[in-house]
Amino acid sequence: MALTQDDLKRAVAQAAIAYVPNDCIVGVGTGSTANFFIDELARIKNRIRGAVASSEASTKRLQGHGIEVLSLNEAGELPVYVDGADEITKHMHMLKGGGGALTREKIVAAASKKFICVCDASKLVDVLGKFPLPVEVIPMARSYVARELVKLGGQPQLREGFTTDNGNVILDVHNLQIMNPVELETTLNQLPGVVTNGLFARRGADVLLLGTPDGVKTLTA
Ligand code: A5P
Repeated sequence: MALTQDDLKRAVAQAAIAYVPNDCIVGVGTGSTANFFIDELARIKNRIRGAVASSEASTKRLQGHGIEVLSLNEAGELPVYVDGADEITKHMHMLKGGGGALTREKIVAAASKKFICVCDASKLVDVLGKFPLPVEVIPMARSYVARELVKLGGQPQLREGFTTDNGNVILDVHNLQIMNPVELETTLNQLPGVVTNGLFARRGADVLLLGTPDGVKTLTA
């Protein structure tokens, strides 16, 4: 029987467990692939101290498995962060935030020594930007930032009825062909009112576990 996308996600989630050291606090991402990872983490919960989560949703799922969730401030530097992506290149640059958790994801990733990206094969792309780029914005800056995004060549669309865990809004920017993700990430970071953008290029992944019909492939930076 052909493998489903969920089978591929489960396979990479299982493979990621090998990167979790004993007795550590592990950084945990958000999304459907991260959910598979959380379920795998539950099986080895007796050999870890706990987790730092990148969203309220992941916090709930971890706690539901009886895994202790600590705040990043009490945990300090983490050895490893495991998360999915909406798109990733072979250069380990990612586009993330489809689930709206980009800000906490970027913070927990930044505080972690290693970023393990877990994806099914459909996420590997040559150029980022087919998936709309999420930008988290402080609500009062929404129109201003949208106008600036248009100047940069994008078509921003407010994510209707959505508020981030931090109380902000998301502009999903369509029609970008992101040839230089490091530069665009930096440019977007400079716009007043932008909290975070979904490009994870300045600090990309260290390891990509890619689920393919032929098994899990490991790519490194
Ligand atoms: C959440 O905000 C995102 O960055 C996710 O990491 C990303 O959307 C991947 O999610 P899936 O594993 O559900 O595709």
